[in-house]
Amino acid sequence: MRKKIVAGNWKMNLDKNQALALTNDLVDTLGDLPEHQRVMVCPPSIHLSSVVEVASGSKGLEVGGQNMHQAGSGAYTGEISGAMLKSYGVNSVLLGHSERRAYFHEDNSLLREKVDAALAMGIEVIYCFGEILEERENETHFDVVSSQLKEALFHLEASQWNGVVLAYEPVWAIGTGRTASPEQAQEMHAHIRSVLTDTYGTECADGVSILYGGSVKPDNAKEIFSQPDVDGGLIGGASLKTEDFMAIVAAMS
Ligand code: 13P
Repeated sequence: MRKKIVAGNWKMNLDKNQALALTNDLVDTLGDLPEHQRVMVCPPSIHLSSVVEVASGSKGLEVGGQNMHQAGSGAYTGEISGAMLKSYGVNSVLLGHSERRAYFHEDNSLLREKVDAALAMGIEVIYCFGEILEERENETHFDVVSSQLKEALFHLEASQWNGVVLAYEPVWAIGTGRTASPEQAQEMHAHIRSVLTDTYGTECADGVSILYGGSVKPDNAKEIFSQPDVDGGLIGGASLKTEDFMAIVAAMS
């Protein structure tokens, strides 16, 4: 059975003390998780080492990276590799976040290389994708999302999908306070699962967790998460406050 996951993407927020205070609070608050649930935070890479250390005091809190380079090592100033993440006990990484696509020019073919590099290191990929407002308005959103999936991920073998989580994040809903309605989220998640089914079959498609991201808050999480193809959320702003993040974790069933 696929897992329900709530992951916090801290983006470029929080200094060292704030990051440690938030992690400590989460460790103190997070009780035992049921077998089918996962909770993760993705801090800026400079905090990974200390956040991993604090999180190791909890049973359930996982730590992921926000990005990694596709090369194993080399002259890539400012970048971090999969081997570095692994060496700090970081076993998951966000790839393809819309902010990286927009500001750092990451496209599907580069992301394909990053996906391969992560999986080769045994790092789980949380692959982020989603349409911009214009694409939804001109009704190309289903095609855009299909291409984002196919071009970066559909070279994988079916067996590799147990190392992949999908995070559908419509760009128009990120940080805007504007959320996809539960029906819009379900409609797209069902589309994503059917695209997966067409290539990989039902068993593989049913095993992949598909998270929704984009202005998930304590007051809308339950309704969004109750949709049959929504397996949790990738949370930005609301992951920076213990109370809000934990309320969203509690909305997972
Ligand atoms: P917000 O929850 O702040 O809209 O951000 C969503 C996001 O980009 C998570 O990766």
